[in-house]
Amino acid sequence: METDMPEVRRTVIELLGQLGSSREARQYLKQFSRIEESRFAVVKVGGAVMRDHLDEMAAALAFLHRLGLTPIVLHGAGPQLDEAMEAAGVPIEKRDGLRVTTEDVMAVARPVIYRANAALVDALEARGVRARGILHGVFEAQLADRERLGLVGEIQRVELEPVQTAIASGSLPVVACLGESPAGQVMNINADIAARELVWAVEPHKVIFLTGTGGLLDYSGRVISAISLRTDYDHLLAQDWVHSGMRLKLQQIKEMLDRLPPETSVSITSAENLTRELFTHTGAGTLIRRGEAIDW
Ligand code: ARG
Repeated sequence: METDMPEVRRTVIELLGQLGSSREARQYLKQFSRIEESRFAVVKVGGAVMRDHLDEMAAALAFLHRLGLTPIVLHGAGPQLDEAMEAAGVPIEKRDGLRVTTEDVMAVARPVIYRANAALVDALEARGVRARGILHGVFEAQLADRERLGLVGEIQRVELEPVQTAIASGSLPVVACLGESPAGQVMNINADIAARELVWAVEPHKVIFLTGTGGLLDYSGRVISAISLRTDYDHLLAQDWVHSGMRLKLQQIKEMLDRLPPETSVSITSAENLTRELFTHTGAGTLIRRGEAIDW
């Protein structure tokens, strides 16, 4: 950890000021700092948050970095790509929830993804955080189904070296959802699938999804504070207000957590609430664990 003390102290004071109870915040900071640096957290940021909340997100991530914590950031660029395709007159087509990626689509997608990545790196660096955009070399892939899906990649292997090198040199890694074949054919990778594979490879202490809604919502539109999959999963899936998007998200998170150590937890929150989610007991967002019962 390459952090100079006065800076950290100032940041901790800022943190405590934001949060109220210093004991709680200190306890979490200690807990997170004990973990190996590259295994603190994987943060998945959707394209919409990248577009609409770039500054808040950069501020929240910069804040963590100033505390000596280095999250691994993975981002999508879906909405940006939709807009660019519309502007270029390239039709948008999805199959099985995946974006059909013809060569025309890829020609539009690549610069859009590069630009989204650079925008986040720039926003972090503007706040004094060293950040490294990682566009290639993490997801080794092969074509999922060339005829039906075009250049959509199916991940074969996750190479963490570029991420670890960035962290070792004091930079915050910002990973894009592109994959390549061993021979260098670039492929489009769905952001949720990329997140899952990255998380399995890293085995982080926390998995964080930054979304616009800031959590999973119950029937009245309020954020559900915590979900214990063992006790709540079947019950939740049986509710008629759990619509298809949320159902899919829950299923994906269950699948993800089933392959991780039991202490791993998922937090779904917003850029604005990230600090409170991480450094208080009550949090601000939806906490999902595999294990013991939690009231929600
Ligand atoms: N700060 C703790 C963590 O990040 C607890 C968060 C609780 N959050 C919640 N939405 N109930 O692991």
